[in-house]
Amino acid sequence: MSKKRMLVVGGSSLLGYKLLENASDFELFSTYDKNLIFSKNAELIKMNIVDQVDCQKILEIKPDIIVNVAAMTNVDYCEQFRNEAHNVNVMGTKNLAKIAQNLGCKFIHISTDAVFSGEKNHFVEEDKPNPINVYGKTKLESEKIASKVTNYLILRPSVLFGWIPSKYLQVRDNSVKKMNFALWVLKKLNEKQKLSIVDDQFSTPTLADNLSENIVKMTKKDMQGIFHASGLSCINRLDFSKKIAKKFGYSDNLITPCSSIELKQIAKRSLKSCLNCDKIVRNGMNLLEIDQAIEIMYTQIKKEEPELIDVTS
Ligand SMILES: NC(=O)c1ccc[n+]([C@@H]2O[C@H](COP(=O)([O-])OP(=O)(O)OC[C@H]3O[C@@H](n4cnc5c(N)ncnc54)[C@H](OP(=O)(O)O)[C@@H]3O)[C@@H](O)[C@H]2O)c1
Repeated sequence: MSKKRMLVVGGSSLLGYKLLENASDFELFSTYDKNLIFSKNAELIKMNIVDQVDCQKILEIKPDIIVNVAAMTNVDYCEQFRNEAHNVNVMGTKNLAKIAQNLGCKFIHISTDAVFSGEKNHFVEEDKPNPINVYGKTKLESEKIASKVTNYLILRPSVLFGWIPSKYLQVRDNSVKKMNFALWVLKKLNEKQKLSIVDDQFSTPTLADNLSENIVKMTKKDMQGIFHASGLSCINRLDFSKKIAKKFGYSDNLITPCSSIELKQIAKRSLKSCLNCDKIVRNGMNLLEIDQAIEIMYTQIKKEEPELIDVTS
């Protein structure tokens, strides 16, 4: 039987990179926009999802599954350039959803915990979203659009992290994250730089490798609907950073706590946005505690970029 065709829109992201590594049971196609990538596993297509004409390239691919990973992910940039954020996160999703519906294919859309206000921990899928920043608002709008496709799957991770090759991080536009939080902490510690990390923002960090594996499994089972899909541990950024320092052999003396008020981030952040993932676990997916996730990241870095580990301590 021939393999089903999966198109990863946003293969140049952290999650996209992991999907292209893990979805080998599919015939893979991947888009990139500003960040040219190389993949031995996928046919690559340059595409700006805001451009309707560009999106017509999907008709030639005729995918069975479209996974929309692409988004404007820099929360502060979204706050400052709200029209751009709306264009990419809302109109871009609209362009893709329309094509998915016309082709009759499955539409997997990656959303976020940022659709919630952050006034309660362990949000369930039935909780009413109430985003407090532009990024969250545009992602909520994108969910509404994605859910109109007949065969849709919406996944909400939280604070995606994981190892990614440095060449993926070279051409990062300001509108997307320069680097994921865990890798950023690790690289700063490696450069012996001091870090001020907030101790009042709680989330359930998601190892991108784990999410990509679950996307593959859920696609094979043709699961539909909306699922929280983060890690299992509800933790603040300070404790998360200290765990990274400890695992990679760095002293946590370089890390000092601060509050969100002191940090003065441009966009408001949810203080408590941990997700309850019982639904996805009940449906057979494997999620990770934070220590398990950091262990997997450590094993990869030991193999791929061992200079990030402090062997002197
Ligand atoms: N990062 C997090 O902590 C987090 C948490 C929860 C949910 N999410 C969601 O998870 C998904 C993946 O996040 P990530 O952190 O892995 O992403 P990322 O590394 O920040 O990369 C963003 C991706 O979006 C693409 N993109 C941006 N604008 C585009 C446009 N106009 N047309 C086509 N592609 C465009 C970028 O392509 P180029 O670089 O090639 O331009 C890149 O592939 C996103 O939907 C995000 O909202 C992320």
